[in-house]
Amino acid sequence: MSGSKKILITGGAGFIGSHVVRRFVKQYPDYTIFNLDKLTYAGNLENLKDIEKASNYHFVKMDITDSAEINKLFETHQFDGVIHLAAESHVDRSISHPMDFVFTNVVGTVNLLNAAKNIWKDNMDGKVFYHVSTDEVYGELGDEGKFTESTPYSPNSPYSASKASSDHFVRAYHHTYKLPVKISNCSNNYGSHHFPEKLIPLMINNIMHNQPLPVYGKGENVRDWLFVEDHAAAIDVIYHKGSIGETFNIGGNNEWKNIDLVRLLCRMMDRKLGRGEGVSEQLITFVGDRAGHDFRYAIDSSKLMNQLNWQPSVTFEQGLERTVDWYLANQDWLQHVTSGAYREYYQNMYSNR
Ligand code: NAD
Ligand code: DAU
Repeated sequence: MSGSKKILITGGAGFIGSHVVRRFVKQYPDYTIFNLDKLTYAGNLENLKDIEKASNYHFVKMDITDSAEINKLFETHQFDGVIHLAAESHVDRSISHPMDFVFTNVVGTVNLLNAAKNIWKDNMDGKVFYHVSTDEVYGELGDEGKFTESTPYSPNSPYSASKASSDHFVRAYHHTYKLPVKISNCSNNYGSHHFPEKLIPLMINNIMHNQPLPVYGKGENVRDWLFVEDHAAAIDVIYHKGSIGETFNIGGNNEWKNIDLVRLLCRMMDRKLGRGEGVSEQLITFVGDRAGHDFRYAIDSSKLMNQLNWQPSVTFEQGLERTVDWYLANQDWLQHVTSGAYREYYQNMYSNR
């Protein structure tokens, strides 16, 4: 039994956060879930339409860089737990606008740590500050090996440097102030409600609209893909059963070269759209590479699997079918998020590559 608890989830209107909020609101009716989100370009309350009226769900529009407001919120609600996902999350944007990543990912995280420390200082029993992070903090791999929890940090992009910095602050608050923290570092997620600046939803959107499919460099870079609902399940089990002060790696054991993945998506969508075989592949366009592009990520999740009995619930083919079907059935969602500012972003990001 979960017991009645107040949990603050930050970034709950984003891609992964919305899946985490949905899972907690549905699985734990005794909990009261507060979703705190600034609603940047990546935050979208449409992602939570199905649960927005649930009696154990509350939305708070707030910026985690605003320490005064954050402290007030923590004092008012006396949260039992925090699951922190709010972040600037796109590597390409971190290359053009690194300071946004410093403010939100570093300063915002430290504000939350301070607020939790202030309200929990007299009694930390049963409290949890769970920081959701990325495998990119470990840097890049060559052809062999996988990241483990003891791989040294070696972040290469402004995004991963900001996430690494936030991880270090979380760890330091545990060491110095005994704040009851947990951290997880996850590989690339895919699934529904994924903003179409990221590889998979961008390719799905462009295939749908017969637009060029921009593959960076030669498409040889490798990512380890995990279905977002399996990430949410991992966060659930780590939040409830992971030991305080521990880090867990989460991955899909599912490595794909970008070019092979884009070809797989083309074949799948040709079939679903009733196009002839090979039609969408003709849209593939090799473009200039991302600056400092990490070659390969791969995660060793054995600690999470052995200690907490977690494993992915779907194969990549099943997860990708579900994802493509969701985008085909929710074209109005795609249309809403790709109108306006997205066009300008796309033009700036892709016209000179
Ligand atoms: P996202 O960009 O889809 O969502 C981020 C959310 O944070 C948005 O709702 C946005 O409005 C909110 N936000 C941004 N700045 C904020 C601020 N200053 N104050 C309050 N809210 C703010 O990101 P995502 O892909 O869902 O990633 C969520 C978390 O998981 C991030 O911390 C990211 O580093 C981590 N992560 C992502 C992946 C992935 O593959 N997407 C993998 C591993 C870890
Ligand atoms: O590894 C976890 C990380 O995965 C998360 O921490 C990040 O928040 C998330 O954005 C993701 O980072 P990546 O940079 O790996 O994801 P992205 O979807 O941007 O790119 C995946 C790969 O595809 C990468 O090698 C770059 C390439 N790519 C991407 C885009 C957007 C292209 O070839 N063309 C594109 O248009």
